[in-house]
Amino acid sequence: METLKMIQSRKAIREYTGQLSDDQLQTIFDAGNAGAVGMGQFENYRIVAIQKESVLAQLNGIYGAPTVIVVAANAATTMEAVSAGIIVHNMALAAEDLGLGANYNMASLGSIPGDVLPAGFKPLIALTVGQTNETFTPRSLPADRIQKETLK
Ligand SMILES: Cc1cc2nc3c(=O)[nH]c(=O)nc-3n(C[C@H](O)[C@H](O)[C@H](O)COP(=O)(O)O)c2cc1C
Repeated sequence: METLKMIQSRKAIREYTGQLSDDQLQTIFDAGNAGAVGMGQFENYRIVAIQKESVLAQLNGIYGAPTVIVVAANAATTMEAVSAGIIVHNMALAAEDLGLGANYNMASLGSIPGDVLPAGFKPLIALTVGQTNETFTPRSLPADRIQKETLK
């Protein structure tokens, strides 16, 4: 899909019809891996995909998603939060390109069991993802959904 068309077609998907394949997960990982992070300090970030039923069952607000991909960092300043957003957005667009349903998720962060992430890493944002019956075509959004201005 062309990039601009993809961007206009992206939407939050909260209903999932099945698990993604390992190849699809790898493609999503690769997209996250291509993200930019502040000061190029990639070692400060982790991407952890949760597919284990017993862990998923403990997560709040994931809408029954079969996969939850957590972006974590070893600090939680604005720089790590923004970088995590870039990483997760890359992964969301990759999911869309694969025809999968995905949504950003913060609701689950507080319920992630302590042993899921490496010691010292904090979850900053997650992506719920799974197969979907939804299709992706450019949406007609209100032009002022986000107010904009240009100083000249
Ligand atoms: C930082 C962030 C956190 C979000 N957390 C959640 C969440 O926990 N649960 C949820 O259902 N949607 C969550 N969303 C999705 C937004 O609600 C959704 O993107 C917004 O309503 C706009 O809809 P759209 O993505 O279809 O354009 C989050 C989005 C962002 C950017």
